[in-house]
Amino acid sequence: MKVVTIVGARPQFIKAAPLSRALRRAGVQEYLLHTGQHYDYGMSQVFFEELGLPEADINLNVRSGGHGEQTGQMLIAIETVLLQQKPDAVIVFGDTNSTLAGALAAVKLHIPLAHIEAGLRSFNRRMPEEHNRVLTDHCADLLFCPTQTAVENLHREGLTAGVHLVGDPMYDAVLLFGQRAEQKSHILESLGLRPGAYLLATIHRAYNTDDPQALATLLDILQSLEETVILPVHPRTRRRIAEFGLLKERAASRLRLIEPLSYLDMLVMEKNARLILTDSGGVQKEAYFFAVPCLTLRPETEWVETLTDGWNTVVGLDADLIRRHVREASPPATPPRPVFGEGNAAEKIVEILTANARR
Ligand code: UD1
Ligand code: UDP
Repeated sequence: MKVVTIVGARPQFIKAAPLSRALRRAGVQEYLLHTGQHYDYGMSQVFFEELGLPEADINLNVRSGGHGEQTGQMLIAIETVLLQQKPDAVIVFGDTNSTLAGALAAVKLHIPLAHIEAGLRSFNRRMPEEHNRVLTDHCADLLFCPTQTAVENLHREGLTAGVHLVGDPMYDAVLLFGQRAEQKSHILESLGLRPGAYLLATIHRAYNTDDPQALATLLDILQSLEETVILPVHPRTRRRIAEFGLLKERAASRLRLIEPLSYLDMLVMEKNARLILTDSGGVQKEAYFFAVPCLTLRPETEWVETLTDGWNTVVGLDADLIRRHVREASPPATPPRPVFGEGNAAEKIVEILTANARR
């Protein structure tokens, strides 16, 4: 069996790592296509190196642009590759423009499409990701859901055929790389941090970064907290901070902006944080895997399971609410539940893919 796997953005390299390993083990031939959506060393290549991903067979180098421009360029180039490669299936992950371009290219060529992280919904149509997910799910032949909620979301949209609850490859990745992170990462020492004595924050959602008011509010909140806050800055956010002239010096601020972290460093930073503040999907889940309380800087979350027992709280941009939660946050008494599978999502996906190819 031969598959074309399509990746392009940071979280997709992470999700692809356990899958690529499981495909190799099952003797499936994988052609890895990188759209080039993310291209800085710290947003792309570092993940290939750390996670042992094979080098991409092709990098389309599409890079940044408007939604139409970026997705359109990917679509044109992916179609050419699929016509040359003639795979038995195309695999896409998550909800980025790379995901949608891969999905559209595959279905128009009648190549079976597998969507990993199917069924996620924020029900917020202002998010580009929501359109990418809905459209990709409705194109897909195999829909690999990380959670029961995702399965139910698909059922409500009339999608029942090819739906499989397999667990979350991001949980597989944490189990696969968690120990290596502990051994190899020196991030706490290099930042001079003690475990449990800092907060970790990430911000990159379009509605939090493209709106000067929203981004100013978030930075102001982070600057006002009375603890060390480490903010590895996504390139989108860095660009907006410069463009809007935000982040003025503030004497008492303990906010520290750093470059995006590698995956192993990020895992260590998450595991040892007292609290995480984020608008990232992946980071909310990793906080839950590591049993670190999380505040979600958004009006809603797709990962509703993480809200159980108070491990994650949706706080939006409400400054008073955020400051109160930061002051009072402590790990809930009930431990996180195993709702993201058993760490073998990638193996399950490969089993189902190969069984379908034999049919
Ligand atoms: C994309 C995804 C988002 C995902 C995120 C993961 C879409 C619509 N959005 O958002 O769902 O959560 O990736 O991180 O697909 N840039 C660089 N260097 C890079 C990459 C980006 O400088 O290597 C800057 C560029 O200024 C670019 C901006 O970041 O315009 C946004 O990049 P883009 O890939 O369009 O979207 P993300 O915000 O990264
Ligand atoms: N991540 C990382 N370094 C960082 C920030 C995030 O390695 O500086 C990892 C994080 O651990 C998670 C993934 O990137 O596995 C989440 O990606 P991101 O927040 O970019 O996108 P989202 O999950 O919101 O789509």
